Amino acid sequence: MKEFNLNTPTQDAGYKTATQVVFQWNYDPEVEELRNLYVKAAESQWVSERDLDWSAAIDVEKFATSPLGNPVRLDKTAYWKSLPKETVIELTRRTVAFRLSQFLHGEQGALMVAGQLVNAVPHTDAKFYAATQTMDEARHVEVFSKYIRKLDEVRPIGPVLKGILDETLETGDWMKKLVGMQIVVEGLSLYAFREMRAMTDEPLFKQLLTYVAKDESRHHAYGVQYIERCVPCLSDNDRIELEDFALECARSLIDRNSLGFLTALFQIWQEVGVDPVAMLSSLQERAELMRELTHGRRFGPVQGFVIPTLRRCGLMSERVAKHFHDFLQQNFGKRIARANVEEFMQCLPDLPADTVQWMFGETE
Ligand SMILES: [Fe+2]
Ligand SMILES: [Fe+2]
Repeated sequence: MKEFNLNTPTQDAGYKTATQVVFQWNYDPEVEELRNLYVKAAESQWVSERDLDWSAAIDVEKFATSPLGNPVRLDKTAYWKSLPKETVIELTRRTVAFRLSQFLHGEQGALMVAGQLVNAVPHTDAKFYAATQTMDEARHVEVFSKYIRKLDEVRPIGPVLKGILDETLETGDWMKKLVGMQIVVEGLSLYAFREMRAMTDEPLFKQLLTYVAKDESRHHAYGVQYIERCVPCLSDNDRIELEDFALECARSLIDRNSLGFLTALFQIWQEVGVDPVAMLSSLQERAELMRELTHGRRFGPVQGFVIPTLRRCGLMSERVAKHFHDFLQQNFGKRIARANVEEFMQCLPDLPADTVQWMFGETE
């Protein structure tokens, strides 16, 4: 039998959070849409060992079609195309394992935020729903960690993602938890899962993402349906604070995360014997690739999904829209962000009426 210890070598030191525990004595259904979502979640539970086929080895050639998550499609450069097939397979395997590791650690954060919401949200239906989400997230941690280990190895969490998870866990404001986790982090993840699922040809990966993405669509719907009920009850100051919290989460994940992503990429390139200088000089083709990127994709995840979600929830005032416009323009230029904030707001897509259908449709 394995030795059992109270302190495990892999755990962090704990930290205190400001989460409050709220008892609710009314057990009747009160927020109908959340009660329905809870019933749907209970009906849709799945079991990793029973429902996914873990028996086959990962087909690395098929796996090489999985997207790498780079803002620029390196795989379209002449340098990438000149690399031996084995190197491309190895690069994809390690890069995707790094990317999935970030989702894995995010899933652990979501597991703990969902657990806190059971304590902190004041409505019974919202507590019930958060309980089902806690179960979902445990399963997501289970399947991502298992898949990554089958593929390669789990790599450490990036500091920006860790910072957002800490902030979302530490705040005593349950609405900030919902906005930070269900709307921003899960909104961006949903967008990425949709793309990965559509592009990969690896059967187990596709199957896993199908199950996870169905759960995530519900988590996002929970955030939207609950927050849109809450926002009209807030004072102007509280609403502004919530809007700014969403802005900062989105900005950190898009802006500051990219540096850590690049450092991790360089390390992986060196591990497989790719010369970073040669790879980077292939980025001289970047301008052309960027043009292709902006032609092919009208909206990125923030503009295409997170901002429409915030707008639907009543958290996209002209004031905060201007800040979003500024940071998107700095990152992606006028073509994506448009010339001014009015034009930017007008061209935003609506949030899909049926997120599940959107999830399994074609990518943009
Ligand atoms: Fe999840
Ligand atoms: Fe989730």
